[in-house]
Amino acid sequence: MSGFVDFAADGVWAAPGRVNVIGEHTDYNNGFVLPIAIPQSARASVGRRTDGRLRLASSHPGSESVDVAVADLAPGALTGWTAYPAGVLWALRAAGHRVGGADIRIDSDVPVGAGLSSSAALSCAVALAVDELYELGLDRVSLARIAQRVETDFVGVPVGLLDQMASLGCVEGHAYFLDCRDLTGSQVPFDCAGAGLSLLVIDTRAQHELVDGGYAERRASCEEAARLLGVPSLREVADPDAALAALPDGPLRRRARHVFTENARVLRVVEALRAGDVRAIGPELTASHASMRDDYTISCPELDTAVDTALGEGALGARLVGGGFGGSAIALVDAGRSGAVAAAVEMAFAARGFAAPRFFEAVPAAGARRVG
Ligand code: GLA
Repeated sequence: MSGFVDFAADGVWAAPGRVNVIGEHTDYNNGFVLPIAIPQSARASVGRRTDGRLRLASSHPGSESVDVAVADLAPGALTGWTAYPAGVLWALRAAGHRVGGADIRIDSDVPVGAGLSSSAALSCAVALAVDELYELGLDRVSLARIAQRVETDFVGVPVGLLDQMASLGCVEGHAYFLDCRDLTGSQVPFDCAGAGLSLLVIDTRAQHELVDGGYAERRASCEEAARLLGVPSLREVADPDAALAALPDGPLRRRARHVFTENARVLRVVEALRAGDVRAIGPELTASHASMRDDYTISCPELDTAVDTALGEGALGARLVGGGFGGSAIALVDAGRSGAVAAAVEMAFAARGFAAPRFFEAVPAAGARRVG
């Protein structure tokens, strides 16, 4: 363990990473999302301190530790993983909550940079811990907003609420159908195994430079399209076809088309899952990928190779997940076919000179909670 040794935790809180089944880049457009929590999670051992200091350490080999005065925290003050737990304390104080010092030790098995929300997992675990230790009494939506503020205001990436709501709101065995307009949601049974299927996650280990700039640019395009259409967000568009015809031909129209079609796909997937027909969601996943590749232009050769190879090996559907420009893809495959699909993707990556991908099967796990 790196960092301080005189550590006394008051408890341990865990918050999972997520895989979004469908509904990508819809959250900041007030649209629909459908994530599941994954078993991998960030665990935060947290102890209250009375001297106003924040001490951070991680079990990750070689990671730095930090000792700062909570009152000195400011956006941009910390970089790397420490910005997330520190950002939670900053965001809570910025929102007017009475929060003092803490010792925080992080232990996470959510792959970093894989598009599986490792940073939101970190923030959510710490937010839940600090809420309890400082008796703030915040509900999960408020905590999700705090964790989002860490990203938008402390770290500086204009994300939506998908990752934080997934980490804090998911329930084992279910996908979380969330309407990002009013943050109302419902749990939809998602039983791949019961349908004889597996949800294979393919971590391409690709991370392209566009990540932050590209994300902000897509979000700005959607806001510009909404402005041109005279609506507060693309969700408020009543007639998508007419809206598309009204937008200038080019990137703006294609970005808006992705959002409109993706929202519709989420609704169809939810309907299929509620009817118990998991197999029926496959084509929607594949259509989502095509839309992100062609209209939203956030795919990359590694993600396209993963998706195309999985489909070529008989996957029922496949798509990139998360922000794009790298990270992970998911493939819905017949149970027992995961190994063959993984082997084919591995070969395709090797043939193209890509880094070796990593694989695991996602099962819908529980959301954030106290574990010790
Ligand atoms: C990232 C962001 C989310 C969401 C997804 C795309 O994960 O953090 O808010 O926008 O990308 O769906």
